[in-house]
Order: sequence, then C-alpha cells, then structure tokens
Amino acid sequence: MRFVTITSGKGGVGKSTIAANLAYILSIYGYKVALFDADIGLANQDIILDVKPKHTILDVMKGNVSFEECVIKLNNNFLLIPGESGEEILEFDNKELLQKFYEGVEKINDLDFLLIDTGAGIGETVRSFIDASTDTVIVTAPDPLAIMDAYSMIKYTSKMREELYLVVNFANNKKEAQTIFNKLQKVAKQHIKNPAELKFLGYMEDSSIVEESTRARKLLAKDYASSIPALQLGEIAKKLTNYLTKDGIHIKETPNIAVFFKRLLQ
Ligand SMILES: Nc1ncnc2c1ncn2[C@@H]1O[C@H](COP(=O)(O)OP(=O)(O)OP(=O)(O)O)[C@@H](O)[C@H]1O
Ligand SMILES: [Mg+2]
Repeated sequence: MRFVTITSGKGGVGKSTIAANLAYILSIYGYKVALFDADIGLANQDIILDVKPKHTILDVMKGNVSFEECVIKLNNNFLLIPGESGEEILEFDNKELLQKFYEGVEKINDLDFLLIDTGAGIGETVRSFIDASTDTVIVTAPDPLAIMDAYSMIKYTSKMREELYLVVNFANNKKEAQTIFNKLQKVAKQHIKNPAELKFLGYMEDSSIVEESTRARKLLAKDYASSIPALQLGEIAKKLTNYLTKDGIHIKETPNIAVFFKRLLQ
C-alpha cells in the first residue's frame, strides 16, 4: 500500500482540492483508495466531495460508532474517512486519534492508496503522517510567501524523508511551475544539510474552473473531466502510478498538443 501525505507550508494552496481529485482519478484507474480528511478541526472534504457524513472520526474517538461506520463509500474503489471541523476534536490526544485511525485503516482490505489531506504547516499530526507515509507531496503556489514556506517544509521534512514530491498549483503555465521547482531544488541543495531529493510531480494552472467546481460542489476530475486543470491533475496521478493502472495497463501521457487544441477551442 502507498501511503501518500499531502502537505503544504502555506494554507490555501490547493491541498484538499488536489487530494480529492487524485483520490478519484486513482480510483478510476482501478486502485482501491481511501482518503482521510486529516485537517483536524478544519475538515472540508465533505464539502469538496459533496457528501453529508453521518459520523466522523470524532464519533469514533468518542466511542459512539466503529471506524467502519464512519467510512463513506464514494464509488467501488473510493472511500472517504471524514474528518471533523470544530473545537471538540482538538480536545482529543493526537496519539490516541492516530492509533484509532491506524487500527481502522488496517481493517480495510486490499487498499492500494491511502491519501492523507493534512492541514497547512508542520503540526504534530502532520509530522506523524509524514513519518509514517511512503510518499510525501508538498504543494506550493507561485507567490513568494508560499515558496518560502515550501522551502521551510522541505528543510524540515528532509530530516524524515529521502524523497519529496513537489506540486506547483495556481501556476500560470508549465514553464513557471518548472522554474519554481528548479529554484527550490537548487536552494535546497545549497542550504540544507542532507536535503531530501526533490521530485517534480506536476502542476495545475490557476483557473476559474477550479474555483467554480468548488463553488458548485462538483469534482473537477469527474464533472469537468476534459478541462485543462483536470487533465493536469490526471498527469499528477499518472506520474504517481508510473503510468500504470491497477491491472498493469499503460496509461498514455496526455500529449501537449491535445492540451494546446483544447486551449485553442476554449
Ligand atoms: N489551480 C487553481 N486555480 C484556481 N483556484 C484554485 C486552484 N486550486 C485551488 N483553488 C481554489 O482555492 C481554494 C483553496 O483550495 P483548497 O481548499 O484545496 O486549499 P488547501 O490547501 O486545502 O487549504 P487549507 O490550507 O485551508 O486546507 C478553493 O476555493 C479552490 O477552489
Ligand atoms: Mg485543505
């Protein structure tokens, strides 16, 4: 099982949007995916995925329901473990919460991907997830503050990981995203002792379609599947799976020319 933690330094850079869509795309490729909304106290995947959880991880913590009862099946391959917003969940001990979570996840059979949508910054829970994960994805935006925070995140997580993926969201274009990646890679190599190897996982452009899908409570990769940002999310998912479906079928890279024509037609 791949355990993918999605984090960022600065908030609002698109972690939750990327996590929800990645989970969906991977499920369409045949992988069995569970997404945990681990932004403790500020959970919002229920809104992004347009579901109304009867129970959340808070009810599990309180002992009101079992872990299985709080899990929501979004399709045959896609499970959501709803988080909780509000202060009550913050009263629970972090270790206790993680233990309940791991015990529950262990009972889900044949899971290929466990995606963790975390809150911004390097809090205790985020650290624990990064420690336990097989893959860590840092999301950044092109603005200087987000890049600075992404750098701090790389510096901090380099103590825990040998490899880190970077996603540049809100990019103007691929060139800008690649330039930001190159800069961060260079600065990390120069200034961090034993830096983690930074890998470019992809980018998503700044697009009103993304905002619109959030507002309409629709999933970009599903309801706006042929839009450019959805195709870019698809590329991120493909890179994560080495261009293979669960059955080992090669997934084609979207040729740039297709993106070009789509842009022309829009
Ligand atoms: N590429 C994009 N273009 C335009 N808007 C975007 C893009 N990506 C995300 N957004 C919008 O930005 C807002 C914040 O996104 P999201 O909630 O995914 O960020 P986050 O990193 O999870 O935030 P937080 O740190 O608060 O958890 C949402 O309204 C979303 O629709
Ligand atoms: Mg979020």
